[in-house]
Amino acid sequence: MRFGQAPVPFTPPETNLKGKTVIVTGGNTGLGFEASRQFLILGASRVILAVRNVSKGETARQVLLSDLTVKKNNLDAEVKVMRLDLSDYKSVVKFATDVKKELHVMHILLLNAGLNVMNWEETVDGHEMTLQVNYLSNALLVLELLPLLEQTAIDVKAPTRISWVGSQAQVFNSFNKKPLPSDESVLHHFDDKMQYSSFFRYSDSKLLVSMFVQELANHIPQEKVVINHMCPGGVSTSIDANLPVYLRPIVGAVKWLFARTPEVGARILIYAAAVAGPDTHGAFIVDNKIAPIAPISQTENGKEMQKKLWDETIVELTKVDKAVADVLAQ
Ligand SMILES: NC(=O)c1ccc[n+]([C@@H]2O[C@H](COP(=O)([O-])OP(=O)(O)OC[C@H]3O[C@@H](n4cnc5c(N)ncnc54)[C@H](OP(=O)(O)O)[C@@H]3O)[C@@H](O)[C@H]2O)c1
Repeated sequence: MRFGQAPVPFTPPETNLKGKTVIVTGGNTGLGFEASRQFLILGASRVILAVRNVSKGETARQVLLSDLTVKKNNLDAEVKVMRLDLSDYKSVVKFATDVKKELHVMHILLLNAGLNVMNWEETVDGHEMTLQVNYLSNALLVLELLPLLEQTAIDVKAPTRISWVGSQAQVFNSFNKKPLPSDESVLHHFDDKMQYSSFFRYSDSKLLVSMFVQELANHIPQEKVVINHMCPGGVSTSIDANLPVYLRPIVGAVKWLFARTPEVGARILIYAAAVAGPDTHGAFIVDNKIAPIAPISQTENGKEMQKKLWDETIVELTKVDKAVADVLAQ
C-alpha cells in the first residue's frame, strides 16, 4: 500500500498451524500464492494448491519450497498440487473426491480463486462464466467438502474453517438500482444474456458470495465449521488482466498509487482463515475487523433474494451431485 488504505496488522506471532492441512484455491499466483506462503511460514504441515493449470501450480510449488523464510520456519512442509477448474462442475466433483480419498483431514478451506471477465462467456455447464467460477462451483466445493471439515472438527475437538475471498465490490451491485423482481429466479437472471452487464457482473458475483456465506452459517453450527468471508482491499495482482486496453493505464496508475502488495493483502486472508474467532461465523471481514455487508442484504428485497438464491443453489447443485442434499440434512 502506498496511500489511501488502512495499514493491515501483522499476523500474531503466536499463530501456529503445525499439523494443519490447508487447501488454497488459485494458490499458484496473486493473493492465493502469497496466502499459501504465509500458511507455510506459520507452520501448516500440508498446503494444497488447487489450480486449474497444473504446470503453473508445480512452478508455484517449487518457488514456495525454495522460499528462504518457508525453509527456515517449516522445513518439513508438504506442498501438493491438485487440479481444480471452477468453470467445470465435473472438475470440482473430481477434485473433492480426490481430496476425500487422499487427505482424510482438512482444517482450512480458503476459497480464493476468482476472475473478472469483461465479456459474456459460457462454461461447459452452460452458465455465465463469472457466475459459475466466482460463485456456483465454490458453493459446490463447500458442500462436497463439508463432511470432511465436520469430521476433522470432531476428531480434533475444535472447529475447522471455510474462508471465502469476497469483495467490498459487493456494495456496488446492480440490484441497488434495479432490484430483482419477486417472480424472477436469481440464477436465471445471472444466466440471461440480456441482463448481463460487464460493469456490474463481478460485484454482483461477490454479492452472491456474501449472501451464500450468511445463509450457510445458519445451517452449520460454528462449533463444527466457522465460515466467513473477507475483502483483501485493493491489491496489485492479475485480477484486472481482462480489463479493456483503454482502461488499463488508468487502473495501473490507481493501483500504483493505492494498491496493497499481495503480502499485505494476504494477511487479511490469513486473519479470516486462521486467526479470527467463531464470532466471525457468517460475517464479512475488512481490514481484520467485522464489517457491514452490502446494504441491500438488509432490505426486504435483499432478504428475499438471499433466501431464493439459497434454495435455487441447492436445487442446482443437487442436480450435479445428489449427495449435496444429504449433507445439509445431517
Ligand atoms: N486483487 C484485488 O484487488 C482483489 C480485491 C478484492 C477481492 N479479490 C479477490 O481475490 C481473489 C484472488 O484474486 P487475485 O487478486 O489474487 O487475482 P489473480 O492474481 O488473477 O488470481 C486469481 C486466481 O484464480 C484462479 N482462477 C481463475 N479462474 C479459475 C478457474 N476457472 N478455476 C480455478 N482457478 C481459477 C487463477 O488461476 P490462473 O492463474 O490459472 O489464471 C488464479 O490462481 C479473487 O477471488 C478476487 O476476486 C481481489
